Amino acid sequence: ARITLRQLLDHAAEHSYGVPAFNINNMEQGLAIAAAADACNAPLIIQASRGARQYANDIMLAKMIDALVEIYPHIPICMHLDHGNGPTTCLTAIQSGFTSVMMDGSLEADGKTPASYEYNVDVTKSVTEMAHFGGVSVEGELGVLGSLETGMGDQEDGHGAEGVLSHDQLLTDPQQAVDFVKKTKVDALAIAMGTSHGAYKFTRKPDGDILAMGVIEKIHQLLPNTHLVMHGSSSVPQDLQEIINQYGGEMPQTWGVPVEEIQRGIKNGVRKVNIDTDNRMAMTGQIRRVLSENRGEFDPRKYLKPAMDAMTKLCKDRFEAFGTAGWA
Ligand code: G3H
Ligand code: 13P
Ligand code: ZN
Repeated sequence: ARITLRQLLDHAAEHSYGVPAFNINNMEQGLAIAAAADACNAPLIIQASRGARQYANDIMLAKMIDALVEIYPHIPICMHLDHGNGPTTCLTAIQSGFTSVMMDGSLEADGKTPASYEYNVDVTKSVTEMAHFGGVSVEGELGVLGSLETGMGDQEDGHGAEGVLSHDQLLTDPQQAVDFVKKTKVDALAIAMGTSHGAYKFTRKPDGDILAMGVIEKIHQLLPNTHLVMHGSSSVPQDLQEIINQYGGEMPQTWGVPVEEIQRGIKNGVRKVNIDTDNRMAMTGQIRRVLSENRGEFDPRKYLKPAMDAMTKLCKDRFEAFGTAGWA
């Protein structure tokens, strides 16, 4: 059944678990994630970015969610817009049947320029007012995602902040978070504490200098009833890097967010954990393996099925690790 983000995260808070939010762009990813939720009996957040909507078409995405809800009627499914950049994008997502939207006002509508606090409050507030009329949930973001090592925003795919960012911008200010939630009435708050999108988050296993989990603890103390969201939460597992590189890939050594750190976040109010990169890597590793082991192969199912299985396994691992399993 369809569920809003608010309904799901209220339940998660009550029972102290976290919910991974997995990005999808196509049918294979949708089926793989839903199979994992079914196997673990876990509620599900599926999210689509603006790029995903462009790639897959809103009608296709909407019908895909309808199909997953019909195939797995016992699994609560929240369909969420990832990184909306303005009221129009959020509204069209709602019109397509999304039960939750993110209004990311940490950046201006260009998705690159760090926005002023006033802009963020205004644009987020206008989206919550609109969305709440329709019973749709809203996630806001305060603080800019990016690297505490380099001061740079996301380096992948050209999305993320441009220019060198200060620690003030890269770490959510707990006091400001209190004011932001009060003014905007968001259902969930994404915070910045040193993670970035994509595979290249850290040049070493992160410690407290480059992954500031303490910020989450402070915010949770001040806002115990606000559902916190961690973006850029792929763990970028070493074994997935190895599979990709073993079969012709060239990924430089990199580190993501260790699962133990996410578990620490979940103890401190993190309820939604955004993961895309890990699933991309899981799929790509298997596609590379099958194609290099079977050079004459050209049936897409032969490489997409193992890719889906690898993705299902990763999703199951996260449902177990975050305590989501068993709550559907
Ligand atoms: O925002 C980050 C998500 O991984 C979505 O990425 O914008 O390339 O679809 P995307
Ligand atoms: P990753 O790139 O770490 O998977 O983060 C995804 C994300 O935050 C989507 O909003
Ligand atoms: Zn994100």
